[in-house]
Amino acid sequence: MATVLHKPPPSATLERIQAIVGPKGWTTDPAILAPHLLEERGIYRGHTALLVRPASTAEVAAVVRICAETRTPVVPQGGNTGLMGGATPFEHGGEILLCLSRLNRLRAIDPLNYTMTAEAGCVLAGLQQAAEEADRLFPLSLGAEGTCQIGGNLATNAGGVQVLRYGMARDLVLGLEVVLPDGNVLEGLRGLRKDNTGYDLKQLFLGAEGTLGIVTAAVLKLFPRPRETETAFVSVRDPGAAIKLLAQVRGGTGDAVTAFELMSRTCLDMVLRHIPGTADPLAGRHDWYVLLDVASGDTGGGLREALERSLVAAMEAGLVLDAALAASAQQSKAMWRIRDSITEAQKSEGGSIKHDVSVPVSSVADFIAEASAAVASTIPGIRPVTFGHVGDGNIHFNLSQPADEPHTGAPLAAYLARLEEINRIVHDIVARMQGSISAEHGIGRRKFDELLRYKSPVEIALMRTLKRTLDPHNIMNPGKVVAP
Ligand code: FAD
Ligand code: LAC
Ligand code: ZN
Repeated sequence: MATVLHKPPPSATLERIQAIVGPKGWTTDPAILAPHLLEERGIYRGHTALLVRPASTAEVAAVVRICAETRTPVVPQGGNTGLMGGATPFEHGGEILLCLSRLNRLRAIDPLNYTMTAEAGCVLAGLQQAAEEADRLFPLSLGAEGTCQIGGNLATNAGGVQVLRYGMARDLVLGLEVVLPDGNVLEGLRGLRKDNTGYDLKQLFLGAEGTLGIVTAAVLKLFPRPRETETAFVSVRDPGAAIKLLAQVRGGTGDAVTAFELMSRTCLDMVLRHIPGTADPLAGRHDWYVLLDVASGDTGGGLREALERSLVAAMEAGLVLDAALAASAQQSKAMWRIRDSITEAQKSEGGSIKHDVSVPVSSVADFIAEASAAVASTIPGIRPVTFGHVGDGNIHFNLSQPADEPHTGAPLAAYLARLEEINRIVHDIVARMQGSISAEHGIGRRKFDELLRYKSPVEIALMRTLKRTLDPHNIMNPGKVVAP
C-alpha cells in the first residue's frame, strides 16, 4: 500500500488540476477557503493547498485521474454540514479539497416514473422544491436541508425526520453516477425499480462518506405529494409511553405517521431560553414530549379526526398527558422550529458530549433510563439533552456540562476531557442492546477509532478489503471511516 503525501502537493500537480477546471473552478484564497476548512462543530480546522470546484462529471473524473496518477489525496465536500469531520481535510495540508457545489443541475424530472435525476451539488431544499413543483414529494428532510447537498446526503446515508415512512437516503436512490478512485466513471443512472443483474454496486458508495469514490449524480425516488398533513405537540408520561403512542397512532390513522420525534424538557427549556420567538405549545410543564406529523394523500379529510381519536385514546390509557394540534401551517412550522433548534440552542449551554445512537425501538426507553443513570453517577449534574427520531430507535443522547459550573476555561476543558470515558459508558450500553454507535451521522474522522472497537473483526476486514480494492492508492478521503 502506497502512503499518501502528508505535505502540500507539488505545484506542477496543482497546475495540471487548475488547467482542467479553468479559472472559475479553483481557489487558494484563504478568505474563501476558511469556511470550507472548519467543520460544523468547530472541532477540526484543516488545511489545503487547493480548493477545486469542477463543473461537470468529466471535470471531476479528469481531476481524480491526476490525483490517482500523482497519489494526491482528495477530500470531497458537499454542504459541509456533516457532523463527523468527514468533509474536512487533515491539518497536514497534503489533500486537495473537491467541492461539488458547481455540479448543481437538476438533469431530469420524470413524474410518471416518479424519479428525478440530480447532480451531487444540488442543495436538498432545492430538490424538495423541484419535486413539489412537479406535484411530487422528495421526502428526505433534515435540519440542515437549506445547506446540505444531495451528494453529501447520499455519501452519509442521511436520515432525518421522515425515515419512519420513507427510509434513509439509501432507500431513496435508484441509480448512481460515481467517479471512482482511478478516475473512471461508474455510469449507473438507471431509473429502475427492478434490476437484479448481480451485485447492487451503488450501495457501496451510499454511506461510504467519500472513501470509495465521488458521487456526481443520482436518480432519486419521488412519491405522491401529501394532500393533508397534521402536526401535534404532545406531552407523554415517559419515553416508554412515546413508543406505545407511536404504535397507537400508526394503527389509528391507517399508518399515516411520517415523523415522530421525542424530546425531553431539558431540550425544550434550552430552545425557549436561547432561540428568539419560540414558545411552549402547552400550558403545563412536563418531562417528555413528542412532535409528530401524520400525512395522507387523501383529499377527503378525516385525518385530523383520526389523529384526535388516537390521542384521546392514548390520554385515557395514561400515555399522553396533554396535546396541542397545530391549527395552521404556521403553527406547525413553529412546533417544528422548536425541534429543529435543539442543536443550535445547546451550543449556548457549555460543553457537549454527543452520541448519535440507535437501539431496537422496543429498547429505547431502557436505553434512555440506563444511560442517563450511568452518566449521572459518573458526572453529577451532567445534563442529558435527549431527543431524536424515536420512531427509528435513533436517539441523540447529547450531554451538556453541569449548569452550575463555568462553561468556559478550565472547567469546560475538564468536562470535554472526559469525552472518551463518557463515550465508553454510553456506547457499551448501546452495544449490549445490539444497537449502533452511529445511527445516522456516519463515522468520518470523529468515530474512526470507535468503529474499530464496536464492529466485528470480520466486518472491519471486509470493509478494508473493499477499500483496498476500490482505492488501492488510498487517495479517496483517507483517514476517514476505515483505513485500508
Ligand atoms: P458534507 O458535510 O460536505 O460531507 C459529508 C461526508 O460526505 C464527508 O465525508 C464528505 O467527504 C462526503 N461527501 C460529500 N459530498 C460527497 C460526494 N458528492 N461524493 C462522495 N462523498 C461526498 N444528519 C442526519 O442524518 N439526520 C439529521 O437529522 C441531521 N440533522 C442535522 C441538523 C443540523 C442543524 C446539522 C448541521 C446537521 C445535521 N445532520 C443530520 C448532518 C448532515 O447534515 C448530514 O450528514 C448531511 O447528509 C451532510 O451533507 P453535506 O452536503 O453537508 O455533506
Ligand atoms: C438532528 C440532528 C442532530 O436530528 O441529526 O437534529
Ligand atoms: Zn438526527
